[in-house]
Amino acid sequence: MPIDLRSDTVTKPTPGMRAAMANADVGDDERDGDPTTLKLQARVAALLGKDDALFFPSGVMANQAAVWCHAPRATEILLDVNAHVIEGEIAGAAALSGVQVHPVEPRGLFMTASDLAAAMLPPSRYRAAYSLVCVENTHNSAGGKIVPLDDLRAIRQVAAANGLPVHMDGARLWNASVASGVSLAEIAETADTVMVAFSKGLGAPIGAALAGPRDLIEHAWTARKLFGGAMRQSGIVAAGALFALDRHIDRLADDHENARAIADLVGTAGGANVVAPDTNIVMVDLPPSHPAANVVAAAKERGVLVAEWTPTRIRMVTHLDVSAEDAERAGSIIRSILLSPM
Ligand SMILES: Cc1ncc(COP(=O)(O)O)c(C=O)c1O
Repeated sequence: MPIDLRSDTVTKPTPGMRAAMANADVGDDERDGDPTTLKLQARVAALLGKDDALFFPSGVMANQAAVWCHAPRATEILLDVNAHVIEGEIAGAAALSGVQVHPVEPRGLFMTASDLAAAMLPPSRYRAAYSLVCVENTHNSAGGKIVPLDDLRAIRQVAAANGLPVHMDGARLWNASVASGVSLAEIAETADTVMVAFSKGLGAPIGAALAGPRDLIEHAWTARKLFGGAMRQSGIVAAGALFALDRHIDRLADDHENARAIADLVGTAGGANVVAPDTNIVMVDLPPSHPAANVVAAAKERGVLVAEWTPTRIRMVTHLDVSAEDAERAGSIIRSILLSPM
């Protein structure tokens, strides 16, 4: 079995999780409510300190529903140029909500309040009005970076000063909370709506939730139906997410330690440059002698799967199915590839 570090989405449900899913109490989510889905939604809302939450099949769909709920057509949403909503959601904001993304170029690794403020122009009849600010925490493209609470609060202030709501893409909010010791609710307080995903480090097979004010979450039901349909006996998958919330949050600290071990082993081998990991993502910028495609192929030959992030960058993500020994082995293999001529 290769050591699969391409993403934390590759985890397989554990036997206990599969049993919980098989035995889930279910009903018609749209008609009478699915009891397990309702339980999950209440749990997520409580954890994030929000009125309510809605279960979605994916993080992308929950992010796009948030955009649809917050942003009227023909407006602009402001977000980091490297945000997943821009990079990984196939122009969904334009296609589904009729809004334009306004990418904010960060001066550092991710958008700060001053980057946001500098990107905003005064209202004008020549331009679209702004309708929403999106933040991502942890920030995937930046290397699983935690956006500090002070930065999030400052972004919220800039948004509020301009009458704009904030949506947080918290696909890996669990990692941010465990690594920083700041509670999920405290982080979530800096945004109006928050998306969290269950299918990444938590190890559930599919699913995400959108949490926020009651009226907005009620509206999100319409978005979900418009984008796909009702969820019916979704308790089968919600049970996997509940199982993960009970058992797989604290252990994320192991993933973070494993990511640090990989980063330490790779170091500056062969002229590489590692983005010091805050959480479970290790980005490695490669020397010109080692193009990402070649490193990916060489690692695969030696039983380690890594992702080509750009032609000069690879990404490795630790997760539930990667042990400390796997991390040591993978880090050593990548190091030796970087130290060998190509
Ligand atoms: C930051 C971020 N947001 C959103 C998503 C989308 O989540 P999903 O794969 O559940 O659609 C991902 C997926 O990797 C992600 O990394």
